[in-house]
Amino acid sequence: MASQSSSSEKGKGKEKEKEKEEEEENEKSVEGVKEKVKKKGLGWMEWLRGWMYIIYEMLFQRISASHLQNPMPLPPINDLTCIVTGSTSGIGKEIARQLAESGAHIIMAVRNPKAANDLIKKWQEEWSGRGLPLNIEVMELDLLSLDSVVRFAEAWNARTGPLHVLINNAGIFSIGEPQKFSKDGNEEHMQVNHLAPALLSILLLPSLVRGSPSRIINVNSVMHYVGFVDTEDMNVVSGKRKYTSLVGYTSSKLAQVMFSSVLHKRLPAEAGISVVCVSPGIVQTNVARDLPKIVQAGYHLIPYFIFSAEEGSRSTLFAATDPQVPEYCEMLKADEWPVCAFISQDCRPTNPSEESHNLETSYKVWEKTLEMVGLPSDAVERLIEGEEVECKYGASQ
Ligand SMILES: NC(=O)c1ccc[n+]([C@@H]2O[C@H](COP(=O)([O-])OP(=O)(O)OC[C@H]3O[C@@H](n4cnc5c(N)ncnc54)[C@H](OP(=O)(O)O)[C@@H]3O)[C@@H](O)[C@H]2O)c1
Repeated sequence: MASQSSSSEKGKGKEKEKEKEEEEENEKSVEGVKEKVKKKGLGWMEWLRGWMYIIYEMLFQRISASHLQNPMPLPPINDLTCIVTGSTSGIGKEIARQLAESGAHIIMAVRNPKAANDLIKKWQEEWSGRGLPLNIEVMELDLLSLDSVVRFAEAWNARTGPLHVLINNAGIFSIGEPQKFSKDGNEEHMQVNHLAPALLSILLLPSLVRGSPSRIINVNSVMHYVGFVDTEDMNVVSGKRKYTSLVGYTSSKLAQVMFSSVLHKRLPAEAGISVVCVSPGIVQTNVARDLPKIVQAGYHLIPYFIFSAEEGSRSTLFAATDPQVPEYCEMLKADEWPVCAFISQDCRPTNPSEESHNLETSYKVWEKTLEMVGLPSDAVERLIEGEEVECKYGASQ
């Protein structure tokens, strides 16, 4: 009897253990499902925190950046060659002018070369008598065309000179406009703000290696805090999420942070290339050109809160020239930090959004981006080794 009862107890014990195991399995799979559900969008707490961050930046950016001079004093940088995309307007125009006045060789990479040439003429006249003529030139680049990006990179790399700083500044925020697609078939915010700059950065690696220590600076935005990237639907066409220009803009900016984080990890330390994202702050520029006239008027009425383009250029100029930035990037790399360097509008390093720390998604963004811009998955490694890499896009296709 005693042995019977002990064996039945053992049996019950085993059953209980099995039940517990099953319960744990169920809990795990429920959590797994929750995890998958969460990945379909930001949690509402995360979303709320993101908006609070944006509002805080808008209200207090001037206070938090009050330690900075305007214009930001720059060291002599006669030995630097810098490409600045979108330098015919707003923040990019200020970045190009100030870097050129500090002695750098500037390439204005723009979609409207005439506007850039007119600006150079004006800047040379204003600068006359203050030093050597500014060393600026213009090259055509339309980020709405991946062919144009490849042509630009091929033309620049063919010079076999060094590139010290690539500033991916050009960007769009077509507020309130319906969804539009590039001729390459990508949602326009995703292409101009993320895909095309990503392709440009990778194709210019041979020149950045020649210019090493060199930097890739991405003019990002505090708006990425409310962004979410669905890697199965980067162009927001599946109907799972309703498209708005805000969704288009914030997803593209988050995708840029995530892609930059993986690029930062994949570049070998010996290549000496730092990858940095920056927030310029909330800046009064042509970015608001698509806002309704009444909202634009309101926008112009709050200059106390909103930075001028000169103020908005400071974090990028800091990231491009401060000697401590490469050390900071190296430190993040050594610590295997999940995200790349992110410099805030007050020129202080800050943590990008919670979602940008999701490494699994970052790697998916990386893979998907390479696929969408027509590059092989080992493009970075091969270019760093000095090998040729074929791109689906470009003049020769
Ligand atoms: N202003 C803000 O509050 C703010 C806040 C956060 C982040 N940002 C970011 O800062 C960057 C600069 O924006 P901004 O405020 O200075 O705006 P902006 O005055 O509108 O300047 C944008 C620049 O990008 C260029 N661009 C647009 N589409 C292009 C294309 N397809 N190919 C090549 N160039 C193109 C524009 O060229 P055109 O001159 O020919 O139009 C312009 O030079 C953007 O990445 C933006 O997302 C701005």
